[in-house]
Amino acid sequence: MCGIIAYLGDRPSFPLIIKGLKRLEYRGYDSSGVAVFENGSLNIFKKKGKVADLEAEASAAGLTATIGIGHTRWATHGEPNDVNAHPHFSSDRRMALIHNGIIENYAAIKQRLEKKGHVFLSDTDSEVLIHFIEDIRKETGQPLEEAVRIALREVVGAYAIVILSQDAPDQLIAARKGSPLVIGIGDGEYFLASDATPIVEYTKNVVYLDDYEIAVVNAHGLKIVNLDNTEKLPYVQTIELELEAIEKGGYPHFMLKEIFEQPRSVADSMRGRIQPATGMLQLGGLTGHFDKLVEARRIILVGCGTSWHAGLVAEYLFEELARVNVEVEYASEFRYRNPVIHHDDVVIAISQSGETADTLAAIELAKERGATIFGVCNAVGSSIARATHAGAYTHAGPEIGVASTKAFTSQVTVLTLMAIALGRHKGTIRDEVFTGLLEGLAALPGQIGQVLENAGKIKEIAYIFTYARNFIYLGRGLHFPVALEGALKLKEISYIHAEGYPAAEMKHGPIALIDEDMPVIFIATRDSSYEKIVSNIQEVKARKGRVIAIVTEGDELIPKMVDFVIEIPESHEMISPLLSVIPLQLLSYYIAVMRGRDVDQPRNLAKSVTVE
Ligand code: AGP
Ligand code: GLU
Repeated sequence: MCGIIAYLGDRPSFPLIIKGLKRLEYRGYDSSGVAVFENGSLNIFKKKGKVADLEAEASAAGLTATIGIGHTRWATHGEPNDVNAHPHFSSDRRMALIHNGIIENYAAIKQRLEKKGHVFLSDTDSEVLIHFIEDIRKETGQPLEEAVRIALREVVGAYAIVILSQDAPDQLIAARKGSPLVIGIGDGEYFLASDATPIVEYTKNVVYLDDYEIAVVNAHGLKIVNLDNTEKLPYVQTIELELEAIEKGGYPHFMLKEIFEQPRSVADSMRGRIQPATGMLQLGGLTGHFDKLVEARRIILVGCGTSWHAGLVAEYLFEELARVNVEVEYASEFRYRNPVIHHDDVVIAISQSGETADTLAAIELAKERGATIFGVCNAVGSSIARATHAGAYTHAGPEIGVASTKAFTSQVTVLTLMAIALGRHKGTIRDEVFTGLLEGLAALPGQIGQVLENAGKIKEIAYIFTYARNFIYLGRGLHFPVALEGALKLKEISYIHAEGYPAAEMKHGPIALIDEDMPVIFIATRDSSYEKIVSNIQEVKARKGRVIAIVTEGDELIPKMVDFVIEIPESHEMISPLLSVIPLQLLSYYIAVMRGRDVDQPRNLAKSVTVE
């Protein structure tokens, strides 16, 4: 959600910022803008729509500055238009600010400032913040850095900000609380960004700014102070991200690339975690904290969207394999209830981006109440990864497509390893089940590859259903969350209304929707619910629904009953969601492409939802 990129160094900043904004496009946005010094004054260019539109307009100005800030906005306060786009000027136009997040008490501050004569051009909370800083600066006569600190102590909400000021034209001031900000350190140059994607081609050395910290960057270096004015030595880390990982590599879309990466990403999620000789499982990030999991009275899995679906799969796994009480919670609901949390509860926060505001808040709440928090994150060094007591990275590599695909399968893979490790430790997994699971996991990357070979057939089915207006996805047991995930994928990128349900629940309501125009997708693999799901298919066929079934290779019964089948290889039941979800990802992808949708950046969506 929203992207920030700022540069200070010797290179022309405008092309670098535009390139950076394009790298950040995947996060989701509706308008963009840049501010640079040109001929001794601060110039802002901003525009609703794509970064390419901004580039076309601002390029004509022949900008040569070597310092600048750029922003992609995901509107929260005020509609997406040119005026509300960032950067925003202070009233004397000597400062420009970009902001990601929400200033919750902006209305009260705005009122105060209006009484003092401030006039606001936009509807944003962000413009209020730069006027507020300007006001404090004037009132106190303090340097900008100090005025920023005073202002932020009064601000309620979430922010990552960068300020460029005419009074110090060779300096950038940044701060964060709740929204991410990474500082790339090059040779005499600095890159500030929402994530490492726009930085990685220039430097691998980064400093992650923490909440309540202010960074001042200029020719003298990088200085970090917190809101209490205590200085902190910057902790420089090396990022492992490679440039190829954030480029399309010959695929038409990131989403398709990421779907096809799954044999590798799932293997990476397991790499080094299963000892080949002993079959023992080792999750390095949990070392020293594993006992908490063993002693847990209850495991609470929290997440949003696809990550919540991964939690639902894990609920079956932990219950079945480790015989422990499990609850799965939407982070956004959990944080605003008054949940009963015990000190021997373990909360597992699941997040691809590691920046989801609701998930972060749920972690803070559970922490305050004494629970141990584990993270299952993809983005290394992300806020959630740092806020948890321990955790296991999913190692799926950067996911750029807004619709989560490889992140989901990696999350489920890691959670499967955790459930097996716990069950093994507690002695709740019989030897033959354990061996079967390990064999299943070892075969998984190859079997995902086999499912991907069916892409051509899935594309043909997608063609037939391109103009469907609704879809129902049904599954039982472990495939119920997969049904939810399949429906979410379709909604997100094709904008077709889709519902996921437990197959048996259909007759309690959704069956009323079934007629010859309703495509119904069944996940009907040969497992413990097979007979039951066959009956559910019959119920739909009896009402003339059009059925697409995901079946186990070699199934002879279901293909005779349904309109279309997609086969997946036979695997251990506990592992099969990692195979059954793949055709659903591909189906959504092809339908969306055939409908001409913007697959990687679907409307209204953001990759990391950093506001609640
Ligand atoms: C997935 O396709 C979605 N774009 C979305 O539901 C996502 O899973 C959710 O916003 C949670 O994100 P996170 O995993 O980065 O926390
Ligand atoms: N709240 C700000 C706005 O609406 C910033 C939104 C963002 O994070 O892009 O302009």
